[in-house]
Amino acid sequence: MAHINDHYLKLKAGYLFPEIGRRVREFTTANPEAKVIRLGIGDVTRPLAPAVLKAFHEAIDDLGTTENFHGYGPEQGYDWLINTIIDKSYKPLGVELKTSEMFISDGSKCDCANILDIFALDNKVAIGDPVYPVYNDTNVMVGRTGEADEKGYYKGIVYMPFTEANNFIPDLPKEKVDIIYLCFPNNPTGTVASKEELQKWVDYANANDAVIFYDAAYEAFITTPGIPHSIYEIEGAKKCAIEFRSFSKTAGFTGVRCGLVVVPEAVMGTTEQGEKYSFNKLWNRRTSTKFNGASYPVQRAAAAVYSEEGWQQTKEIIDYYMDNARIIREGLQAAGIACYGGVDAPYIWLKTPAGLSSWDFFDKLLQECHVVGTPGSGFGPSGEGYFRLSAFGDKDKVIEAVDRIKKKWGK
Ligand code: MLT
Repeated sequence: MAHINDHYLKLKAGYLFPEIGRRVREFTTANPEAKVIRLGIGDVTRPLAPAVLKAFHEAIDDLGTTENFHGYGPEQGYDWLINTIIDKSYKPLGVELKTSEMFISDGSKCDCANILDIFALDNKVAIGDPVYPVYNDTNVMVGRTGEADEKGYYKGIVYMPFTEANNFIPDLPKEKVDIIYLCFPNNPTGTVASKEELQKWVDYANANDAVIFYDAAYEAFITTPGIPHSIYEIEGAKKCAIEFRSFSKTAGFTGVRCGLVVVPEAVMGTTEQGEKYSFNKLWNRRTSTKFNGASYPVQRAAAAVYSEEGWQQTKEIIDYYMDNARIIREGLQAAGIACYGGVDAPYIWLKTPAGLSSWDFFDKLLQECHVVGTPGSGFGPSGEGYFRLSAFGDKDKVIEAVDRIKKKWGK
């Protein structure tokens, strides 16, 4: 009989969002009349920008013609998309990248997981707490960890708490690590890091020959001037950082699927013999072996996000969500509930009222207000006592949800 990957059995709970879905389904089956408002998973609700939709349609029509038919594209993505992203999204930040340093994918969740393929198992990994669960769980799945302790910390991983006490910017690891996951604007806390703060991480990485995995999936939601949109705005980052970006939240592509990874040629690791080797070469090798490229219509739609019209329309949708974030933040504050984030990110991180545990608050909010959010403890032990609300809902529903919360919990 084939032997399973036993490392999967170390995972303590099911993946967070399916578990929330299960509880919500149970509640709605028992209470079919309840008008449930979902502000749990960060899933977009606005339609695609018209210019993006048009490009998508046109690309599909191309596939119905002999002249413009497209079969396999480059595994790394079409140059016309890569160069558009470099010109429109990185150059304005003062960041120069080569076409060969960017890889288009079918989404950032897979990229954040797949990147582990090109790193040896004996690398020491540092992960935030709370954190986007994919970083932690994929390290468990590949066998980099031991079992979890009673709190939920896996042996072998260095956890970096994001707390009120450190303003949700973790301290540098006390021990030497080889890989550091950073996500700013942060999921789940919605907080951001300044250039000075990121500089400390880049300096640490360069001094310790470590690699930073920088998840910038929410960079388009930054509103405060001066907050970096890319790790490459930080001096020295091109020598030590791999950046992940996503069209999911930026352009409403959660159902379309498109993301990208930047692996600068200067990011190096060592071979077993101690020779330097470029991670760009390895990622390129992996990509061409295990991936056949994001689909042509998806890449055409993604390129249209950066047309003048496309970006204007996309920005309006981002502003719509950020107005929702303001409504949630101000509503919670008016109700006397302490909260963070929601200024440069579409997530609001609130302290559960009355000292409730995250899951107790989840159940109460669902049963008494018919509002779904995400329990902070689902993102890691330091998330206990916190709760995340997403700003990706319809505005009228967001207003209604905040009203219900205020009525129930307002002082
Ligand atoms: C979230 O709610 O944290 C995200 O939507 C999950 C994801 O991007 O996969």
